[in-house]
Amino acid sequence: MGKVLVAFFSASGVTKGLAKKLARAAEADLLEIAPKIPYTPADLDWRDVNARSTIEMKDPGSRPEIAEIFEGMEAYDTLFVGFPIWWYVAPTIINTFLEQYDLAGKTLIPFATSGGSGMDKTNEKLLPSCPGAKLLEGKVLDAEASEEELKSWIRELL
Ligand SMILES: Cc1cc2nc3c(=O)[nH]c(=O)nc-3n(C[C@H](O)[C@H](O)[C@H](O)COP(=O)(O)O)c2cc1C
Repeated sequence: MGKVLVAFFSASGVTKGLAKKLARAAEADLLEIAPKIPYTPADLDWRDVNARSTIEMKDPGSRPEIAEIFEGMEAYDTLFVGFPIWWYVAPTIINTFLEQYDLAGKTLIPFATSGGSGMDKTNEKLLPSCPGAKLLEGKVLDAEASEEELKSWIRELL
């Protein structure tokens, strides 16, 4: 599977913990996708129609800015991309991330944590942001999954 990167966005830390374990399990490098403007608890209140996350997720064209561009994506053949499920799909900052690079020919594996939802239409929303990449189905993982469980998932995939 060549050189592997685990890139993740995590607003409240759950996906971050999982991403760290996955990086160990895959013997991969780890990259945090940090928003230029961090999300406050008020930004994350999905019950509030005026919350930042609600406004962004209602607009499929929203592209929240990322703090820093990662140089060196060319070196990786396989990219795990992790995020919390927001409104049944990936937060649009993941589209921002994918659109920063030429990912053609690379294998992309989305993974997520959620409060119970599955991946639903996640890939449908991500596909236009990574033309030419091989976007695998990916899945919502248990945040408490062990490194062994993650290893067996990786073996199934690649
Ligand atoms: C704005 C927002 C929308 C969410 N939408 C969903 C959803 O549609 N389905 C679901 O199961 N969980 C949803 N959640 C819960 C998160 O997916 C879950 O808490 C996740 O593990 C958080 O990961 P993080 O700590 O890495 O940010 C939502 C959370 C937020 C903040």
